[in-house]
Amino acid sequence: MQIPWRNISWVIILVVIFAHYFQSCNGQDYGEEETKPAAPPPEQDNCNGIFITYSFEGRQKVYPLVKNVSAQAWSFKSMLTVMNTGINELKSWKVFVGFQNKELLISADGAVAMDGDGFPVKVGKNGTTLAGYPQSDLKTAIDTAGDFTQMAAQISIKGTQFGLSEKTNPMPSTIKLVNEGYKCPAPKRYKTYQQVCCSRDPKYKPKNVTTKFMPRSYGDLSITYDVLSAFTNRYQAQVTIDNLNPLGRLDHWNLTWEWMRNEFIYSIKGAHTHKKDPSECIYGPQGQYYKDFDFTTVINCQKKPIISDLPREKANDDKMGKLPYCCRNGTLLSPVMNETEARSIFQMEVFKLPPDMNRTALNPPQNWKINGIMNPAYTCGPPVRVDPTGFPDPQGIGITTAVATWQITCNITTPKPKQAKCCVSFSAYYAESVIPCNTCACGCEQTAKCDANRKPLLLPSQALLIPPENRTKLAKAWSHLKHLGALPSKLPCPDNCGVSLNWHLDSNTETGWTARITLFNWGDYAYENWFSAIQMKKDFAKGYENVYSFNGTKLTNQRNNTIFMQGLPGLNFLVGEVNGSDPNNDPRIPGKQQSIISFVKKHTPRINIQGGDGFPSKVFFNGEECALPPEFPKSTAAFKSQFGLLPAVLLALFTFLLLTDGLH
Ligand SMILES: *[C@@H]1O[C@H](CO)[C@@H](O)[C@H](O)[C@H]1NC(C)=O
Ligand SMILES: *[C@@H]1O[C@H](CO)[C@@H](O)[C@H](O)[C@H]1NC(C)=O
Ligand SMILES: *[C@@H]1O[C@H](CO)[C@@H](O)[C@H](O)[C@H]1NC(C)=O
Ligand SMILES: *[C@@H]1O[C@H](CO)[C@@H](O)[C@H](O)[C@H]1NC(C)=O
Ligand SMILES: *[C@@H]1O[C@H](CO)[C@@H](O)[C@H](O)[C@H]1NC(C)=O
Ligand SMILES: *[C@@H]1O[C@H](CO)[C@@H](O)[C@H](O)[C@H]1NC(C)=O
Ligand SMILES: *[C@@H]1O[C@H](CO)[C@@H](O)[C@H](O)[C@H]1NC(C)=O
Ligand SMILES: *[C@@H]1O[C@H](CO)[C@@H](O)[C@H](O)[C@H]1NC(C)=O
Ligand SMILES: *[C@@H]1O[C@H](CO)[C@@H](O)[C@H](O)[C@H]1NC(C)=O
Ligand SMILES: *[C@@H]1O[C@H](CO)[C@@H](O)[C@H](O)[C@H]1NC(C)=O
Ligand SMILES: *[C@@H]1O[C@H](CO)[C@@H](O)[C@H](O)[C@H]1NC(C)=O
Ligand SMILES: *[C@@H]1O[C@H](CO)[C@@H](O)[C@H](O)[C@H]1NC(C)=O
Repeated sequence: MQIPWRNISWVIILVVIFAHYFQSCNGQDYGEEETKPAAPPPEQDNCNGIFITYSFEGRQKVYPLVKNVSAQAWSFKSMLTVMNTGINELKSWKVFVGFQNKELLISADGAVAMDGDGFPVKVGKNGTTLAGYPQSDLKTAIDTAGDFTQMAAQISIKGTQFGLSEKTNPMPSTIKLVNEGYKCPAPKRYKTYQQVCCSRDPKYKPKNVTTKFMPRSYGDLSITYDVLSAFTNRYQAQVTIDNLNPLGRLDHWNLTWEWMRNEFIYSIKGAHTHKKDPSECIYGPQGQYYKDFDFTTVINCQKKPIISDLPREKANDDKMGKLPYCCRNGTLLSPVMNETEARSIFQMEVFKLPPDMNRTALNPPQNWKINGIMNPAYTCGPPVRVDPTGFPDPQGIGITTAVATWQITCNITTPKPKQAKCCVSFSAYYAESVIPCNTCACGCEQTAKCDANRKPLLLPSQALLIPPENRTKLAKAWSHLKHLGALPSKLPCPDNCGVSLNWHLDSNTETGWTARITLFNWGDYAYENWFSAIQMKKDFAKGYENVYSFNGTKLTNQRNNTIFMQGLPGLNFLVGEVNGSDPNNDPRIPGKQQSIISFVKKHTPRINIQGGDGFPSKVFFNGEECALPPEFPKSTAAFKSQFGLLPAVLLALFTFLLLTDGLH
């Protein structure tokens, strides 16, 4: 694909000269200029860096045709050009395009959207980042004798977009290069055209690059795609998943990606695919090319396969297992818990199709995604070519290297409000009421009978032991007893979290303070090898002394304000919720784990326990960040005198009837 820039540039120069002449006659009316779709202007010649242009090529109304202007759908076409006009090679280019008209991208030839799972991608009003694929590196003119095909990427974008009257042009809010070490000014905007010249940040100190490809990066999770051996029509790949974040974790992981060049998985070891359906191959291009192939033995033909770990029993299976780091039923532990179990490996044999019938034509799949149950949410970047991994030689002498290696980096995203998977309640020795988990902390599906936006009702501490849906009576009685005000007719919804944690401030003396931590499992599922972590404000974790009956560790380096806790050997199960002894009358009983954590004040003299310093600023369970209440328990000394005897007896009786199980 040779771009005829040389011919175009003459035309451009003429157009620009003409436009300039035209403009000066018109008294520089900004709105009137540039009615023609623009082409690269002379600014490109003054750019020593990366020159990016976005040019809108037109749009058409599509069905359904509606009267409401902002609901009308349009199909549009545009062209994004990224050109290296500088002296440094740009590896793995990434450009943010600030789409803002509810765009749905249908295709972008030459790029992938980094935050979608393959086209079509809904970019909404927030824009998206495009990364180069298959050509991801932009060489310099110096290194290529000015070969535009190696220096520039031209991405033709097709999509659907909503709204805007006929006269306006749907332009993105901005375009910019997001690679590290580059700075982009605001783009120059024209009616149907935008351009920006991004230059090297003079303050940026490039890392001492001694690698041929990109240096490896260290996000929260790193996936390595190693091609171990390559043949004309197939190759052997090894996928390694490494959990690098001490607070990261996966259980029953599902990994998925998108094959871009019709590849299929012939066989797999150390993992399995969920679907085994050869028909997609038989009726697809694979079947046309491999005419005499028995596809019934092929493991997976999906464009987006879902891959899971094998159960532990298969670890020694000659056909499927026998790989180091395999077969843990999808568990990837925190590296603090066990370095070995923080890694997973599987291998597969991949078959290729023309035009890739060449030992060196290797293309890793794109749009990687990984998830688990009750785990943090990860977002993954595109595969980046890195220096080949070295493996210790089987004979024990020297190392052998992979044919080619790509790395995919995934980072944890913080859960949005009301989308957590666990929550925290606060209580304290000086306060009578518990501050419960936030209303709908983990989402609310049914809001017909409850109020999703009201503050949760304060509770007596016993109420924490029974399922949230059964707490209403206790909360009502408590409210009455403590004169907490009239109850609304529509009560707040429960938190709906599968796991919750109660942080109870237990004591506060001159020299130290303690808190009682209780973990509750309200789901049916038992958590094996669970962990929890708390992050303290400022440097208050310095005073950490001990956590009794859990195995607590204060983390070091950047996370030195975090205390990591796991079950002691034999107590590493957080069992699921079970029926009460009389299921018809008793509420269900959650799985529980409890401990006391103690701190000394010697290193943190200024700590204000009641003011909120005695409460964690972040809490994690199995890597998932839990929702915290917005306030701390208040001292209730003032209410003491109003303590009526009769309601108290009633409440105690009521509680006694409800509870079959104590906190201890
Ligand atoms: C027009 O459509 C938009 C978006 O679909 C919608 O929010 C708005 O209420 C509609 N306006 C009218 C007048 O129907
Ligand atoms: C856009 O960003 C806002 C704020 O970050 C977020 O609430 C919204 O869900 C995002 N929309 C899409 C389509 O990602
Ligand atoms: C980069 O590393 C090489 C050897 O590792 C060293 O000789 C060189 O001085 C380093 N350069 C910079 C700028 O640190
Ligand atoms: C393995 O994981 C599956 C779900 O992915 C689960 O149903 C099964 O019980 C697990 N097996 C063991 C032994 O934990
Ligand atoms: C506690 O956890 C640390 C870090 O994972 C580990 O090294 C240590 O052996 C554990 N101690 C016990 C008693 O399990
Ligand atoms: C880590 O896990 C491996 C394999 O499951 C096991 O052999 C090893 O003893 C574990 N290490 C620790 C410190 O628990
Ligand atoms: C295979 O690819 C290499 C480099 O991409 C090329 O030099 C070579 O000619 C190709 N071989 C065949 C048989 O196409
Ligand atoms: C993994 O994928 C399978 C098949 O689609 C699905 O049944 C399962 O729930 C998924 N597990 C997770 C943790 O998403
Ligand atoms: C993940 O975080 C690392 C380090 O902060 C960063 O270098 C990398 O670009 C991030 N990757 C993604 C896909 O966000
Ligand atoms: C703790 O971490 C902070 C930054 O997160 C750092 O500034 C400080 O030096 C660290 N302290 C120690 C003792 O490592
Ligand atoms: C729990 O109780 C329900 C009825 O409340 C019953 O249907 C269910 O079978 C019981 N489960 C167990 C494990 O006993
Ligand atoms: C607890 O709540 C559940 C769901 O609302 C209900 O089915 C059950 O009967 C309640 N149990 C008690 C003892 O109130």
